[in-house]
Amino acid sequence: MHHIVGVQTVKPPAEPQPAPPDEWLAELPLSGGATVRFRHLRPDDESFIADAAKTASRETLLHRFFSPIRRVPPELLHQLLAINRDRETCVLGVVASSESTRIVCGARYVRLAQPATAEIALTVHDDFQRRGLGTFMVRLLARLARAEGLRWFEAEVMASNERMLHVFRKVAAGGFTAHWTGDNYHLVLDVRAIVRENSGTSIISPPGRSCSGDPDCS
Ligand SMILES: CC(C)(COP(=O)(O)OP(=O)(O)OC[C@H]1O[C@@H](n2cnc3c(N)ncnc32)[C@H](O)[C@@H]1OP(=O)(O)O)[C@@H](O)C(=O)NCCC(=O)NCCS
Repeated sequence: MHHIVGVQTVKPPAEPQPAPPDEWLAELPLSGGATVRFRHLRPDDESFIADAAKTASRETLLHRFFSPIRRVPPELLHQLLAINRDRETCVLGVVASSESTRIVCGARYVRLAQPATAEIALTVHDDFQRRGLGTFMVRLLARLARAEGLRWFEAEVMASNERMLHVFRKVAAGGFTAHWTGDNYHLVLDVRAIVRENSGTSIISPPGRSCSGDPDCS
């Protein structure tokens, strides 16, 4: 709900502000103490995403963008941020303290022309890979997608990206097919199977968010 507070021009904050508590979708405590909290992309995230992209390895950029780029061009960054919420959902993982905020991972899906189908892609910063974030984000996106009536995720994955192939195969179990296109693997994942296969794993709602009404929320 929007509240109109008088007729006054409010300047945007100079620095991006932390998300209000009710914006958090989920959180994942990592071994070692840090907790990654997840929320939807916001327009003021650009500088954080630019920081993350600047320090990503070549392999990470190659596997995400299918091109041997050394840095993410500003136009591509703008394109990634300019999402159409009717067609696209983008979730970011944030590690925040009183001194700093860091975006450590992000995942999105974009509705395709085929009914109930969306293309999914994700990135975890090199410093945070192999700690469960990729797996967690696919599960989280599947729950959001199912709530929006989506049935299928499709993904393009390079053959050298064994980790991504492993994660998708693991979370979708029986609902996973891979087709070699000659360049990459084209994957089709059953969103319902991801939600069903992972109903025993916890997507922890932050304090204050109710799980009532969602049988998969734990
Ligand atoms: C692919 C990516 C998203 C995975 O995220 P992540 O947080 O590193 O993944 P997780 O920690 O959740 O899981 C990694 C899994 O891969 C497994 N793995 C690691 N190296 C592997 C390899 N060479 N072959 C097969 N499996 C491998 C790990 O054992 C783990 O599986 P487990 O949980 O069953 O033990 C991340 O590495 C990334 O951002 N890569 C670069 C960008 C990219 O490839 N994006 C995908 C575009 S569609």
